[in-house]
Amino acid sequence: MASPRGRRSLVAALRHAATNPQRARWYLRRLQRDAVLRLRHRDHLAYYSAVVDDLVVQGKATAVGDLSAKRARRIGKLQFDYLVEHGLAPQHRLLDIGCGNLRAGQHLIRYLKPGHYYGVDISHEVLIAAQRTVAERGLTRKLPYLVAVRDMSFAFLPDDAFDVVHAHSVFSHAPLSVIEDCFAHIGRVMKPDGFFDFTFKRTEGREYGKLREDFYYRTDTLVSAAAAHGLRAALMEDWERLGHSQSKIRVRREDRAAPVPNSGS
Ligand SMILES: C[S@@+](CC[C@H](N)C(=O)[O-])C[C@H]1O[C@@H](n2cnc3c(N)ncnc32)[C@H](O)[C@@H]1O
Repeated sequence: MASPRGRRSLVAALRHAATNPQRARWYLRRLQRDAVLRLRHRDHLAYYSAVVDDLVVQGKATAVGDLSAKRARRIGKLQFDYLVEHGLAPQHRLLDIGCGNLRAGQHLIRYLKPGHYYGVDISHEVLIAAQRTVAERGLTRKLPYLVAVRDMSFAFLPDDAFDVVHAHSVFSHAPLSVIEDCFAHIGRVMKPDGFFDFTFKRTEGREYGKLREDFYYRTDTLVSAAAAHGLRAALMEDWERLGHSQSKIRVRREDRAAPVPNSGS
């Protein structure tokens, strides 16, 4: 039996559906697809990669957008400019987790030295689209790595390899177990003074997920999860001012070398 609160939200949802029939049809299709894929894939990353593959095959902009669209251009450039303002240099090595079809990756690849960009994604279809971007944008000589992953272990990557790790609009689609798994391993592949920036959908109240595809977290939940794996995390206040819908957290290794005090000599 539904609680009074549950009944109220059901009534509100039905009312919303009656006034937005198109949206309701889309939502029901999404529910149906998700139910089938959930039965087929128990593990979240396998399930979500099937969701993204499906979106790409259908040409849905939520997965891989048209890179020439105004919004995609703006968000791609926003990510890139932010990293450069925060010290990203051409000789750095960058790991882009959930690189998508290179909305930001195309700028990063162009800027970094050849072979210094590593894009990983759980969706094969997305990585094929990313390869198209490399060819169409004249970036082949930059030899970017574009690699499919099935977990967050980064076992194929060496220790202390990356100056910068980046994940934009990825943890917004991940349950906490996936994020914790990433925290458990990411410190190993980061240089001791490297940093890892990721965006997330922030809530100040109750944390929740929608259809196992969109997840909302409190900042302190993610900061504590990072600390449990020897990582120091902080909300990036200057990113908040740029008007993006997601917040950003920066993570550093707790064991990184302390800055050398100025001896005055
Ligand atoms: C919304 S897109 C963002 C793509 C890109 N970061 C950008 O800003 O354009 C999210 C991408 O992350 C990928 N993804 C989601 N969870 C992932 C995970 N745990 N590891 C690697 N890729 C993931 C999806 O397949 C998808 O391509």
